[in-house]
Amino acid sequence: MKLEWLNDYNLLAFEEIDSTNSEALRIASFGAIDDLVVTAKTQTGGKGSKGRAWISMVGNLHASILLASDIDIKKHSQLCFLAANALQNTLCLIAKAQNIELDIKLKWPNDVFIGKKKLAGILVESISFNKRNYVVIGIGVNILCSPTDTIVHATSLLAEGIVIASTEHFLHLFMTSFNKLYKQWTQERNFIKTRQEWMKHALYLNEIVTIEDGNMRVSGIFKDIDLEGAIRLQRAQGEALYNFRTGSLLLKE
Ligand code: BTN
Repeated sequence: MKLEWLNDYNLLAFEEIDSTNSEALRIASFGAIDDLVVTAKTQTGGKGSKGRAWISMVGNLHASILLASDIDIKKHSQLCFLAANALQNTLCLIAKAQNIELDIKLKWPNDVFIGKKKLAGILVESISFNKRNYVVIGIGVNILCSPTDTIVHATSLLAEGIVIASTEHFLHLFMTSFNKLYKQWTQERNFIKTRQEWMKHALYLNEIVTIEDGNMRVSGIFKDIDLEGAIRLQRAQGEALYNFRTGSLLLKE
């Protein structure tokens, strides 16, 4: 397999670390100039979104991409959708090669689902140093196993009948897709294609959903995401559209 993406990124692979995202942020805070991928077989302090822990089991993928090229901080959230698209492409490719049908869905804002179960999560974090904005895109993929005591049901590729040669193999496929999409995104300087692609696979699109954001709960029909990745809900009363930049998406019971 050609590992062309390694022409564009350094690779730092750990057996164990607190969190690949934290390591990438530490490296950024020393003034990194090159893009970098940090991986670890296991993490002792894996971070999930909303301050939750990410249970990191050996055999699963834990990777963080550090982009050092001073991207406008307002655009960092777009990279979460771009990474989700790259995961979608990777899973689609693998499933096709193994003749297995996978119902791959992207759940706003940062999850990848197979059917109604979570397979992967993305955590985007930002840091500035010497007037340069750095962004870290952390990816956790359940390849061999998934935690059982989570609020949202989780699954793994193995549980879905997919066998992956190694986490490195999955990373190579993912980074090949990510790098291609990232180059397109940098050239086009807009979110149009990324958003369009993400919307094709959006979980609960046109269904009634509830967004929980702190103490606030709003239900409405999931219609769209805007050009900054905020979710747009159409409310039953009138035509009001609500935009949310953060929060959890739940299917309305
Ligand atoms: C979520 O769905 O809550 C986001 C999970 C992100 C987990 C990955 S694993 C690699 C990277 N390092 C971390 O500490 N978190 C991300």
